[in-house]
Amino acid sequence: MTNAIFESVSAARPDHLQLASPATAANTGVSPDVTGFHDEATGSVQYVVADPVTRKSAIIDPVLDFDPRSGSTRTTSADRLLKHIEAHGLTLEWILDTHPHADHFSAAGYLKDMTGASTGIGERVVEMQRLWKAFYNLPDSVPVDGSQWDRLFADEERFTVGEMDVRVLLSPGHTLSSVTYVMGNAAFVHDTLFMPDSGTARADFPGGDARQLWRTIQRILQLPSDTRLFSGHDYRPNGRNAAWESTVAAQRAHNLHLKNCDESKFVKLRTERDRSLPMPALMLSALQVNLAGGRLPPPESDGRRYLKIPLNTFPQASWVA
Ligand SMILES: [Fe+2]
Repeated sequence: MTNAIFESVSAARPDHLQLASPATAANTGVSPDVTGFHDEATGSVQYVVADPVTRKSAIIDPVLDFDPRSGSTRTTSADRLLKHIEAHGLTLEWILDTHPHADHFSAAGYLKDMTGASTGIGERVVEMQRLWKAFYNLPDSVPVDGSQWDRLFADEERFTVGEMDVRVLLSPGHTLSSVTYVMGNAAFVHDTLFMPDSGTARADFPGGDARQLWRTIQRILQLPSDTRLFSGHDYRPNGRNAAWESTVAAQRAHNLHLKNCDESKFVKLRTERDRSLPMPALMLSALQVNLAGGRLPPPESDGRRYLKIPLNTFPQASWVA
């Protein structure tokens, strides 16, 4: 599988020291060091974010590489994150997912095994676990209580990375359990806002909702205008270089799907567009792994692990042209 990865480092910006506002109580003036790793195969962006003072760090949305043609998994992308952490003298405290991804496997389980760091995701993941347990007809022995993660975050919950305060915003729409992590002057907004020239994420997966996505986006856009926003994907429109960092100000001014829009126009636009999109190629495979905390299904009697594909469960979905 092609897995070219681009990397970019966002330098600390001390000017934010005076720009933190009470509206973002978590924004204590810290400007974390953020490194994004773009996975060309899936368009997803993984992050290593570090407290510049203590050098404690978190990984956000790590990818476990998967080749659907051969059924092979590998850890090249996740290992690259670990090498980066080691090379920069960081200590890993957290392995975070913003939501259960539909386009790639999460490497949270692998990274937990390798490092012992704590895993976390939004608490409404349990609703998605229940929903998808039914789609997959999983046995009752499969837990749907979120016990696959060390921590389930509620809206406005706080935790720390080193000395850096992290604020969790429940941000449903793309999925019902999506969260945004606000760390100092940076917010990891996953699949809500893409780069301004790409617009917004789809909201038609089971549990997704275009109206909720609009409201989530409005909430994110209430953050201070110079907040650095880090997106979960970039599909390089018109072949431009991969990019994943914007600001609240840039999104307010230029986002393709928000310009001259109100809630009802956005819902119409988003719903019509989603109707034309085929389901992500890996959705039915990925959610089995990602709703288990990034763990592959347990081995069967022959020692092999298998994925299950429910047939004719989404008959309304668009087909690839
Ligand atoms: Fe997603």
